[in-house]
Parts: sequence; C-alpha cells; structure tokens
Amino acid sequence: MPDSTTIPVRLGDRTYEVAIGRDLLAQAAARVSDALGYTPTKTLVVADTGARPHVDRVMDSLSQAGIEAHRIDITPAERTKTIATFACVLEAAASAGLERTNPIIAVGGGIVGDVAGFAASAYRRGVPSVVCPTTLLSMVDASVGGKTGVNLTCPTGGLIKNMAGAFHQPSLVLADLLTLTTLDARHLTSGLAECVKHAMLSADHGDPGALEWLRLHADALAQLEPAAMDSLVTRSVQLKARVVEHDERELAAAGSAHGRATLNLGHTFAHAIEPIEHLSPTGKPGDVPLHHGEAVGLGLIAACATAAITGLCDPSYGDSVSSLLTHLGLPIRIAGLPDNAELRARMLSDKKVAQGAIRLVLPTAPGSARLIDDCPAEAIDAGWDRIRA
Ligand SMILES: NC(=O)c1ccc[n+]([C@@H]2O[C@H](COP(=O)([O-])OP(=O)(O)OC[C@H]3O[C@@H](n4cnc5c(N)ncnc54)[C@H](O)[C@@H]3O)[C@@H](O)[C@H]2O)c1
Repeated sequence: MPDSTTIPVRLGDRTYEVAIGRDLLAQAAARVSDALGYTPTKTLVVADTGARPHVDRVMDSLSQAGIEAHRIDITPAERTKTIATFACVLEAAASAGLERTNPIIAVGGGIVGDVAGFAASAYRRGVPSVVCPTTLLSMVDASVGGKTGVNLTCPTGGLIKNMAGAFHQPSLVLADLLTLTTLDARHLTSGLAECVKHAMLSADHGDPGALEWLRLHADALAQLEPAAMDSLVTRSVQLKARVVEHDERELAAAGSAHGRATLNLGHTFAHAIEPIEHLSPTGKPGDVPLHHGEAVGLGLIAACATAAITGLCDPSYGDSVSSLLTHLGLPIRIAGLPDNAELRARMLSDKKVAQGAIRLVLPTAPGSARLIDDCPAEAIDAGWDRIRA
C-alpha cells in the first residue's frame, strides 16, 4: 500500500485511524477491510457530485476487491443538507439491502460526510462508517471526531446548522491529499481557515508553534506545496484527534481549555452569517454565498475583537490573526451584514445557546481559548463591528 501517516483517535473500543497520504483511495478496499477486520460483502458509497474522479477511484477499488458497491450521488449545499437528503441515503441503503456489517462510505466534502455519517448512525440503528474526505476542511475537521448531522429549517425559514444529528465515530478516515488538486481556490482557502482555528487552540494541546508555522508556510500552502500540505493536514488532524479523545461528547465544563467546545472558536459568529445568502466575500455578486471556512475566518477575527474588549486577550492578537488570514487569501471584512441586534438574535438560534444566553469560545492568548458563558452584548457588537466592511 502507498505510504501514509497514521494518526490514531483513541476512544476505547471505538478507536480508529486517520490515514493521511497520496493515492490512498486506490487502496480503499484493502484499507476498509483492514480497519473493519473483515471484507464486507457490500457497501453504499455516498458520493459528492463535485468529487467524481475521486469517487470513481473508490468504486474501482471496491469492485476489484469483489465488494458489491452501491452508490448514491449528492450535490452538496447547506440548503440540501437536510432530513430529506438523510432519508434518501437511508432508503438507498435499504434498497441495496445493506446489512449490519456493511459500511456506508462517504466520499466528498464535509456536507456529504456529515449526512452519510448520520445515515450510518441511524440505518439499522448503526452500521460502520468510513469517511474519504476530499476537501481540506473535511480532512482536517469534519471527518474526524464522529459528529454527524443535518441542518433544520426554523419557522422563519432560516437554516439552523447541524441541529439534528448523532455522535457516530467512523471506523476509518482515508485522507488522500491527491484529492485536493481538483479543489477550487475558495474551497482550499476555506479549509485553511479551520487550520488557523486549530492553530489558535494548539498551545493548549502541546503544539505551541503551530501559529508561527502557519505564518512561515502561508505561501507554500497557497501553492499546495506537497511537504507543507502533508505537515498542515497531519498537525491539524493531530490537534482535532487529541481534543476529541479528551472530550468526545463535548461535556467538559465551561472554562476548560481542553473541552471539545473550544473547537467552536469563531463558529458562533460564523453560523450567524453563513446562512445569509447574499453575503459575498469578494463583493462580486457571483461569489455568494459565504463558504463555511470563510465565515469561520471572519468569526475568528470577531472573536478576537470581542475577547480584546473584555480584557481576555491583547488587542494585537486580533491584528496578527487578521494578517495571517489575509496572507492565506481569506476575507477579513464583509459588506452587507445585518445590524448588530439582528446578528445577536441570529447567534441565539445557534445550537450552542445555553439557557437563552450566547456562549462564546474566546481567545485568551496565542494558541489558547476558553468557553465563556456571560459575554456582554457590547463586547459581541465590537466583534461584529470589527468585520463589518
Ligand atoms: N462534523 C464536523 O465535525 C464538522 C466540522 C466542520 C465542518 N462541518 C461541516 O462541513 C461542511 C462544509 O464542508 P466543506 O467545506 O467540505 O464543504 P462542501 O461539503 O460543501 O464541499 C465544498 C464543495 O467542494 C466540492 N468538492 C468536494 N471535494 C472536491 C474535490 N476534491 N475537488 C473539487 N471539488 C470538490 C463539493 O462538491 C462542494 O461543491 C459544513 O456543512 C459544516 O457544517 C462538519
């Protein structure tokens, strides 16, 4: 099999490996059999229509190994990351006659991975799940940690992100870096935003040099330079794996530096603006809507500004995060935001809300962050003002 770096996610009897390397999808069948401890008779591949060549490599590998591979195609969008799509995957599994030992294999970005994983958690009350992430964001974040789910539509017609789902750890994650060569520039930089988020938590998880490393390698990463990409994905997956091992179900108390909730750094801001369909990161009408990672990048800057005004961190930290995001090609301001009161109301519909209060993960120093329960409205507004163009 081709060389790969393997990162274990140690969760007792649900321990699994994240394999990171090149051309791993051509070996999908053998790697799935190794991970499961048996060769499945059949499988359902949940295929991202944007990742066709990569899906084909997985299908070829499965059929060459004599595994009966069924397939359902999904065109990913937050508007279609729904219960209806989840139901279609379940029905495809039933039509294919999948049994308890037959895995559901996701090949695609974070949306396909989240929906397929949720279906794997529910079909016959749980079948094995394998994730082959094909976007940078899904490699470093969505595919690792077992959070699966779909969006719900609230009575006003807006989307509530990831409001229904399940924890269902995969049996294997196959991160094939070759898949990133077909990814467009905006989705690549979106993934880099989640890597910046991880680096902003890294000192609390034993990797204090991660932010500086990103700064030094920003140009190489923008060029997809192989050695830099290998290190980036490996380091980022390691961070995610350590956090998940520490607090799999996100139960750690507010204030803990090691809780899974800290991975939401920037996300309460991001989730408030991500569903606003007219927001364009470049100001060009064709560049709507915001991608998840672009919203996260803006959210990281807003979180720094909120933290600075409450005295949690030095104001210069926000400036250095902004300059890193700019260097990586991400937007740091956005035009067309609603007013602050509406944005705070949107934050209240986020699923992280506790007893009607907005809970925010805020940076405390480079590489460190904490979950804060009682952030004043004026400080949140300062965050929004910082990214308003
Ligand atoms: N479960 C988790 O822990 C977790 C963590 C972070 C994000 N997420 C979720 O992940 C989703 C975002 O994921 P995403 O950024 O991967 O977006 P996405 O799934 O929408 O994929 C982005 C686009 O890239 C296309 N694509 C996929 N692979 C490709 C490839 N190799 N080449 C060319 N195009 C390709 C897709 O068709 C899609 O158009 C959000 O819904 C977010 O909520 C989940």
